[in-house]
Amino acid sequence: MSNLDAVPEQDSSLDDSSTTQEVIFVVDDNTVNLSMMSKFLTRVGYSVRVAKDGQSALKKIAYEQPELILLDIMMPGMDGFETCQALKALPETKDIPIIFMTALAETVDKVKGLSVGAVDYITKPFQQDEVLARLRIQLKLRALNKQIESQNAVLHKTVEQLQRTQTQMIAQEKLASLGNLTAGIAHELRNPLNFVINFAESSQELMDELKTEINNNVDQLPADSAANISELIGFLNDNAAATLKHGQRASQIISSMMQHARSDNGIVEDVLINELIAEAIDFAYHSRRAKHHLFNAKIHQNYDSQIQKVQVLPAALSRVIINLLENAFDAVHRHHELQNQESENSNYSPQVWISTNVLEGNKLEIRIRDNGVGIPQELKEKIFDPFVTTKTPGEGTGLGLSISHDIVVGQHGGTLKLNLDLEEGTEFIIVLPKHQ
Ligand SMILES: Nc1ncnc2c1ncn2[C@@H]1O[C@H](COP(=O)(O)OP(=O)(O)OP(=O)(O)O)[C@@H](O)[C@H]1O
Ligand SMILES: [Mg+2]
Repeated sequence: MSNLDAVPEQDSSLDDSSTTQEVIFVVDDNTVNLSMMSKFLTRVGYSVRVAKDGQSALKKIAYEQPELILLDIMMPGMDGFETCQALKALPETKDIPIIFMTALAETVDKVKGLSVGAVDYITKPFQQDEVLARLRIQLKLRALNKQIESQNAVLHKTVEQLQRTQTQMIAQEKLASLGNLTAGIAHELRNPLNFVINFAESSQELMDELKTEINNNVDQLPADSAANISELIGFLNDNAAATLKHGQRASQIISSMMQHARSDNGIVEDVLINELIAEAIDFAYHSRRAKHHLFNAKIHQNYDSQIQKVQVLPAALSRVIINLLENAFDAVHRHHELQNQESENSNYSPQVWISTNVLEGNKLEIRIRDNGVGIPQELKEKIFDPFVTTKTPGEGTGLGLSISHDIVVGQHGGTLKLNLDLEEGTEFIIVLPKHQ
């Protein structure tokens, strides 16, 4: 007979945990003990689950975890020590406190119990006050531990977030100073380039005048000379026209470089998105061609003419488009190389598609797709994390997508997603709210 029977049902001094629904799991092969302990714990307000042997206890506990386990040591089959060790080996049950119950009061058993992971001991016959006191201490410790764990998790997350923000700030600062440098160089180049353009234009005009002059006096020149001079003037005219054309092209590139390097200073502007994208494509393509003269890709542009002006941070958004295009160019280039390694007569044609669309709910969508190497499956989940890269240190930092994500989501309240349904190549989808 255990002293537990003596606990009165309405004993309010013991009943202070009646509002909690903490679950205690009791394992004992002795049915009488099991039922007595179970009744006692229920009376004082706990929710009780039971098992009569180690094996079935393991199964039930793994399925639904209690707050605490009372475990008998002497049981047929799997004894209490083995059951305890098995529970400590499972990740989902290893942190549940276990209190051993035994009739043996020998020190050696207690030491063994504690060494296999139990937190405490109660000895039969049970004293109600002692059982409750020990139980409550362990439950309290467990609750405190859980609280510390969850606070730790929050702290850990905060630290990670801080580190991420710091990395992004450094990268953005680098890009910003690179932008200033580009703007400076572009500005310096603009004046000499203007001279080239103006002189080419003026040479054309002078050439026209010279032609008229010669035509007016053609009878004073030997016939051969007149023909030769006319031919030379024709060549000089072509040269001046070519100088003018390439000079104007260079001037266009320089203006777009200056536009892209310009800092937004966080000022939102009304922008024609389709134009901004077309400029960014131009810039990205020419930068690529300047680095790799042989680079080639067919670029398909498909703009929704319904899109009017949209409020965005223009330089930041261009940077996103350029980052995505640079990745697409890398991917098609890599694919081209691989195809050429496989067969010299590969008929692979590198292609990039860019489109804009008005969506329902006052939103607009920008899609950038390529038929390049595609993103390895294992990278897809963390593709927007900083420093995720398949490129060598000189080629890429792994920050492009993470910064782009930050700009689209953080600065514009939009979304930037990888299209997971695509079977070949890669597609990124930007959705922006269309405040007008
Ligand atoms: N269009 C794409 N096709 C295939 N892989 C891509 C594509 N876009 C991104 N990736 C993969 O994602 C990785 C991360 O891209 P991210 O732009 O963030 O960094 P990065 O291009 O490596 O370096 P950088 O900082 O210079 O942009 C790339 O290294 C590449 O493996
Ligand atoms: Mg990149």
